[in-house]
Amino acid sequence: MIGPDSSAGTPSQRRPRVHPPGTVTIRCRRDGPLVVELAAGLAAEGVRIRVTDHEDREFPAAAAGKPALALCRCGQSRRRPFCDGTHGAAGFRAAEAAPDQSPEPSKDPPSDPARP
Ligand code: FES
Repeated sequence: MIGPDSSAGTPSQRRPRVHPPGTVTIRCRRDGPLVVELAAGLAAEGVRIRVTDHEDREFPAAAAGKPALALCRCGQSRRRPFCDGTHGAAGFRAAEAAPDQSPEPSKDPPSDPARP
């Protein structure tokens, strides 16, 4: 990983991380960077994360074959586009939350198996 990856929040607030096979996950860390993570096994298959500038020149740090890296989104890093941890001292605040996609409980009354 390039950049810090300590999770924000108390242990009871953290949800287990899920990395479905074959995916690249971009995780918005609370008050921190965007963490780009390859699912387990992708790096072994030769998949790598590539970060380029506006002229498609690759940043060497990203070419190191890491399965994860952190991209600065506070604008204060001295190693942009990578996070160097400065967001903490800068007081960066961001806590975007994805919409809850858990199924809603049914509003229909439970069916009576004795009735046809
Ligand atoms: S998000 Fe970490 S230094 Fe900007």
